[in-house]
Amino acid sequence: MLKIVVCVSGGGTNLQAILDAVDAGKITNTEVIAVISNNAGAKALERAKAHGIPGILMSPKSYPDRESFNHAFTDKMCELAPDLIVLAGFLVKIPEDMVEKFGGRIVNIHPSLIPSFCGVGYYGLKVHEEALRRGVKITGATVHFVNEGMDEGPIIAQKAVAVEEGDTPEILQRRVMEQAEWLLLPQAIDDIANGRLTVEEGHVYRKA
Ligand code: GAR
Repeated sequence: MLKIVVCVSGGGTNLQAILDAVDAGKITNTEVIAVISNNAGAKALERAKAHGIPGILMSPKSYPDRESFNHAFTDKMCELAPDLIVLAGFLVKIPEDMVEKFGGRIVNIHPSLIPSFCGVGYYGLKVHEEALRRGVKITGATVHFVNEGMDEGPIIAQKAVAVEEGDTPEILQRRVMEQAEWLLLPQAIDDIANGRLTVEEGHVYRKA
């Protein structure tokens, strides 16, 4: 059984997609053991509670500096000892120490086709604002393993989504979630839980 901790910052629709997929048997061999949020007001915490999953608040604002937050966050994760950490709209940079300790066992969902519109400053709605500003006709979402870089780890899966005339960032965000994110992330977790992924020299391969 793959024990996962899901880290969130906001609405938690990706968390909900994971919980629904577990309930529907689309993700198997997996248990969500805790949800960590950096934001006390995150709707994601309500979603966790409604599912009887412990919600833990870990905010950098509650610590004197980033270093002490990073220590506390990493310690908490070691105490929970998940097999996989899932960043589902988590807008805090993962401490290097945690990446070292959980190497190859952290995944992230990003709302663009990496390497477009990713890296520092590209998160949430901003990604879609930039995609519209640049005028791309195709965008999408990416699930990838997390390394010490920002949105740079090995890519697990991607799905393209069309940009349509008249799109606002909000409309585009919703389409990318519906057509890509809510499918890709549960699928990636199920693949990991069932040993279908291998990583060789920074490339991810999926067994049939
Ligand atoms: C999602 O679109 C996710 O891909 C994005 O934040 C949103 C969270 O929505 N993540 C990033 O931008 C990470 N760089 P949610 O809380 O409803 O799942």
